[in-house]
Amino acid sequence: MSKRIRLGILASGSGTNLQAIIDACESGDILADVVVVISNVSDAYALERARKHNIKTVFIDKKNFKSRQDYDKELVFILKENQVDLVVLAGYMLLVGPEFVRAFRGRIMNIHPALLPSFPGTHSVKDALDYGVKVSGVTVHFVDEGLDTGPIILQEAVPVMENDTVETLHNRIHQAEYKIYPASIKLFAEGRLKIEGRKVRILEKGENRWRR
Ligand code: GRF
Repeated sequence: MSKRIRLGILASGSGTNLQAIIDACESGDILADVVVVISNVSDAYALERARKHNIKTVFIDKKNFKSRQDYDKELVFILKENQVDLVVLAGYMLLVGPEFVRAFRGRIMNIHPALLPSFPGTHSVKDALDYGVKVSGVTVHFVDEGLDTGPIILQEAVPVMENDTVETLHNRIHQAEYKIYPASIKLFAEGRLKIEGRKVRILEKGENRWRR
């Protein structure tokens, strides 16, 4: 018997990736449910998207916490309280701290709008464009203690066009994101992702360890 896994999503912005994930869950493509959406931004449109789907939302105001550790403790508390199996960072603009990573090791995913390890950090679309690369792309990876350094799950290349601006390139990158983020979560939900050191092995269907 397959069970649906519980997703907790952290988002700071417009939440278009969140939307793609909600849609994939609702259509039955992924055996998962988004059970909570948490933001550090009170008016993030991601929260509004979640509310439209009757998903629980939480705004955590950094101002109410003395330290980053305390903030992370609250995050971990809420995610555990909601029995989250997988934490999905979808345009979450804060770094998650080591205690957070420890609490959910191997169970936190991030999406990055470049082909890592090229162009890590927050301005990757602009950095890639300024560098003059002809191909950029998207990376979904597990989160470790570093900045955009965790084991890579899926990547998709996106061409850079002659007259691209940050906006046009990011729009093209978004289209790839909406495919590979749900696809990565689906693989996780099927028990088909195995972390071996730096590498993520994608198991064949039926080769999974804990699900049929
Ligand atoms: C995406 O491009 C993602 O790769 C990056 O932040 C952006 C979030 O966009 N981490 P959205 O909020 O999902 O629309």
